Amino acid sequence: MPTTVNEFNTVVPEDIARAVIVDGFADTADFLAALEWLRENAPVARVELDGYDPVWLVTTYDEILEVERQPEVFSAGGGDRPGTHNPHLITRAEDDFSLETMGTLRAVDSIEYADGDEHSSMKSMTGSWFRPVSLRALEPEVREVADASISTFLPGTQLDAADVAEFCFSYPLHVIMRVLGESSSYESVYRALVHMPDETATAGGLPGDGEAEAGEDSDYWAEVFGNAFAAFDRIIQERRDAPKNDFATVIASAIDPHTGERFPDSWIHGWYISLITAGHATTSRTLAGILLALATRPEQLALVQRDPTCIPGLVSEGLRWVSPIRHFTRRIEQEYVLRGQLLPAGERVVVYFPSGNRDPAVFTDPDTFDLLRSPNKQIAFGYGMHQCIGQHLARLELRVVLEELLPLIESISLDETGGVEIRLTER
Ligand code: HEM
Repeated sequence: MPTTVNEFNTVVPEDIARAVIVDGFADTADFLAALEWLRENAPVARVELDGYDPVWLVTTYDEILEVERQPEVFSAGGGDRPGTHNPHLITRAEDDFSLETMGTLRAVDSIEYADGDEHSSMKSMTGSWFRPVSLRALEPEVREVADASISTFLPGTQLDAADVAEFCFSYPLHVIMRVLGESSSYESVYRALVHMPDETATAGGLPGDGEAEAGEDSDYWAEVFGNAFAAFDRIIQERRDAPKNDFATVIASAIDPHTGERFPDSWIHGWYISLITAGHATTSRTLAGILLALATRPEQLALVQRDPTCIPGLVSEGLRWVSPIRHFTRRIEQEYVLRGQLLPAGERVVVYFPSGNRDPAVFTDPDTFDLLRSPNKQIAFGYGMHQCIGQHLARLELRVVLEELLPLIESISLDETGGVEIRLTER
């Protein structure tokens, strides 16, 4: 039963539904083309695809914001029944497997699965750490990490596609490790966590490839998570014994104002997992996407090299262009009319950030990469209560690494497989 008819009798073809639900990361061009079709023909469309719960696909900018700004109508984790909804879109069999083995759809106690007061409490654990004013003090350290990452490839001047990929992968990981105040002794634990199937890693989510059999690889992931939680517990204890000036200390020592007690360790684990997963692949993919965009647009590279004050604009356009998080799923808690469609309580909606970011009603020439785009109301970080808490850190990371790297670049090009190559000037 691949496709359905929505109330306006628009049939969503199966290949469109598959492209946005199952194959989202297999082929970006197909994915974007499917989103364009949906925006034009069925911006709020109910689809039933074999193996998945029926879902409402929401692909236009205004409607994405309308869903995101009403968390009491569209819950992330099941509203007053926590753990009964999964904000990540995976197969029904995989959700059933989680329910059977864990009794919940909440894979970890992290903020993206929480609603209402619980969400506020989890967020409060981080105090003001993620605010721009606090992050300003981190800039020299981030710059040090950026410099060290670039220096890995020096004194050579030619970075092939594998070098560029490794650079884009490692730099954000090393920033996160620095933020967590950790030495390289934990790098293998972190690397195992971020080597997830693409779909879920970039959704900031947890293991569960949409096409995989439920339970497949569960032993592998149990081991990865077991190692990670053991490492987190060691770090938590170390920070409680000897506090440092780092994020690990902030979450390990946070006190719940309602109870006067520490927050549960599972919530601290949730923060570690969020930082390492949601904070890594997103930034990594955006950096790679920006370099790819520049490789095919020498005039934009020349412009930003001539005038580094354009770098924040390059970052914003890169975020719009790449939109590394494809979607989040919400459950409809109360019947709601969205763009003329009656959404029944209990069903699920999926909001597509890359689609909002290419909506021609909001962005002139949305398929043109323009680092001077103004205004640029991109929504790669989402919107509303769950809007990315790490957005200022992500912008800082991207700006700083581009400030360090761009002046060294002689040229960027594509190799015969489409990989990005960089030639650096002598330092
Ligand atoms: C280019 C980089 C990034 C992008 C595009 C991005 C995007 C997003 C998006 C779309 C959401 C969901 C928003 C929504 O539902 O409305 C989100 C949530 C989140 N992000 Fe990011 N993110 C990035 C970097 C980071 C970093 C660096 C961190 C942390 C170090 C982080 C931590 C989180 C967390 C914890 C949430 C859940 C927030 C909540 O549910 O309240 N992200 N991010």
